[in-house]
Amino acid sequence: MDSFVIEGGRPLRGTLRVNGSKNAALPILIATLLTDEPCDVANVPSLRDIRTTFRLLENLGKKVVYDGRVARVMARGRLETWAPYEIVKQMRASVLVAGPLLGRFGLVRVPIPGGCAIGMRPIDIHIEGFKALGAKEESDRGDVVLRAPAGLQGGRVKLRLPSVGATENLMMAACFASGSTVISNAAREPEIADLGTFLGRMGVVVEGAGSPTVVVRGASRPAGAEHSVMPDRIEAGTFLIAAAATGGRLRLEGIGLEHLESVVAGLKAAGASVRECQGGLELVMRSRPKAVSITTAPHPGFPTDLQAPWMSLMCLSTGTSLISETVFENRFLHAAELVRMGAAIKVAGSKARITGRPRLNGAPIMASDIRGGAALVVAALAAQGKTVLQRIYHIERGYEGLEGRLRGVGGRIRRVPA
Ligand code: UD1
Repeated sequence: MDSFVIEGGRPLRGTLRVNGSKNAALPILIATLLTDEPCDVANVPSLRDIRTTFRLLENLGKKVVYDGRVARVMARGRLETWAPYEIVKQMRASVLVAGPLLGRFGLVRVPIPGGCAIGMRPIDIHIEGFKALGAKEESDRGDVVLRAPAGLQGGRVKLRLPSVGATENLMMAACFASGSTVISNAAREPEIADLGTFLGRMGVVVEGAGSPTVVVRGASRPAGAEHSVMPDRIEAGTFLIAAAATGGRLRLEGIGLEHLESVVAGLKAAGASVRECQGGLELVMRSRPKAVSITTAPHPGFPTDLQAPWMSLMCLSTGTSLISETVFENRFLHAAELVRMGAAIKVAGSKARITGRPRLNGAPIMASDIRGGAALVVAALAAQGKTVLQRIYHIERGYEGLEGRLRGVGGRIRRVPA
């Protein structure tokens, strides 16, 4: 297993281009199961989760040709309706195949994903939604089997929580339902709007994707389509926070302030100057960050996926800040590693109190999930001395070519093979 060796204490300076969004690309690629016609999806980042999605689609009977940016997904024969456990256990988002397959074939069998490092992550909201559209559910040997032999019927589905995955799954399932489906208390994440745009290009009538009420007109026959995936706001936010933590000056190309409002508000409150410039964003940080408390929340709140990098920034702040994590129950695994680097953090349940220190020190540490791992890279870039970060495979699920791109803006980071 490879590690990163990071010599910190140097400001990030220069320009980075933001890649396509992993969390938008995953459901969009999976939505190609709605048709046998070819689909071209551009701006697809080259990441481990994306390769896992290709394997999932191929296992289900699709053919995927990927040149590192554009994925062409084509039919190869009849589609399977049983997602393999080997793949679902590697990537929980695999459960998104349930919606398109159930909607299209009236039958799907999906292994129930186990918990993961950051929480239990059940799929009850997805299943309740399918049932509200007329599916019958049973469980068998760790799989959930959903059936709707006569097809799904459109209807009203009110989500218990605005789950991103459940909203996406139900939007895809509803494409084939008889009549319209109204999903209320839907998640409002911009990636859902991007899926809605792709479904629209396939010929499905979708209204309100990205708002709390999404309407999908059913009985459609989705066709092949072309689409370019939206930029990755979480990658962009991570880079901005890294630049702020190192006292740097960074230009991000390919993304605007839209979708980053809550993070940029936090960065400004911490003392950074952030502005839109030609084709992107620019951040300048001239001082130690001020302490800024945050509470994670579904979009448009502060994204839970940036909570961990934010904690790294706050470790260097001039005061005491609080982080409340309201989305996942166990998302502070990075805190103990930051403490190894000299941070002062007290975790109590879903809250963390961080007392800023003038410096962090490099140390041997370990990543335990994607965003927590990215937070440790941020901390190591800002710390004095050398950090050896292990288990970087977690980070590679969500950040493409991270070390090369950070080197391009002055970060001293290299990969060492195990
Ligand atoms: C997506 C993102 C992930 C992000 C998360 C929240 C992808 C591939 N992943 O994950 O990066 O951190 O949104 O912004 O897009 N829940 C239930 N029952 C369910 C579904 C969810 O209790 O049936 C709970 C979850 O355990 C969690 C919360 O709802 O506590 C939010 O989960 P959800 O919005 O579904 O996240 P994901 O779609 O899994």
